[in-house]
Amino acid sequence: MRPYIVANWKMHGLMADINEVMAIDSAAAKFDHVDVGIGLPATLIHTASEQVKNSEIGAQDCHQAEQGAHTGCLSTAMLSEAGAAFSIIGHSERRADHAETSRLIAQKALTLQNASMGAILCIGEDLATRQSGAALDFVAGQLVESLALADDTSLSPERLTIAYEPIWAIGTGHVPALTDIAAMHSKLRDQLMASFGPTGDAIRILYGGSVKASNAEDILALENVNGALVGGASLKAESFVPIIAAA
Ligand code: PGA
Repeated sequence: MRPYIVANWKMHGLMADINEVMAIDSAAAKFDHVDVGIGLPATLIHTASEQVKNSEIGAQDCHQAEQGAHTGCLSTAMLSEAGAAFSIIGHSERRADHAETSRLIAQKALTLQNASMGAILCIGEDLATRQSGAALDFVAGQLVESLALADDTSLSPERLTIAYEPIWAIGTGHVPALTDIAAMHSKLRDQLMASFGPTGDAIRILYGGSVKASNAEDILALENVNGALVGGASLKAESFVPIIAAA
């Protein structure tokens, strides 16, 4: 499976930072066995997508409806027209700050699929859930709910990527033990195969949460870790490119 390394710029980046996107994009040419995605603020998508050659530009969220009276929101058609090939959905910061539910995120996944865009669906437990020993079942349940897999969904595994991001590892410098990451990814793989059948084996499962050059190689070497979703270390080519190299 081709590794997939995705930048999540969150609410960072002005036009002056396009040079970092371009530096990441030109470095990506050297690693043609790795898929590189750059999730940018909406304001940079058009400019960046016109210039990149070796990576895909994406958004960090989309609305679940195709159009309508939703002040301040962006539809998949708008993002696609601007040049986004994918969108991150269900990031824990959006679940927390915007009260997004797994049910809502399942609708976004379907809307992205209908727009022929990739979806990078984020799931992950908080610290209390991890400490209680319930993380594996909690996150597998979140996966099922966030893809409406228990319902009669027409969601297909194509262009779908899962990102496991323990909330307590995001931006903290704390990373789960490698054995815990491996156990979670194996659980998620089993769930994907149970839900989608054999094609569930081809869905990439990324790890996210304090990934940096110094830990990327060990994390990416784990079975069923098919790439990384990177926040802080993705803002500069200098810290992001070594993670692409590690893949
Ligand atoms: P981080 O963020 O790499 O800064 O921990 C990851 C993410 O939130 O996607």
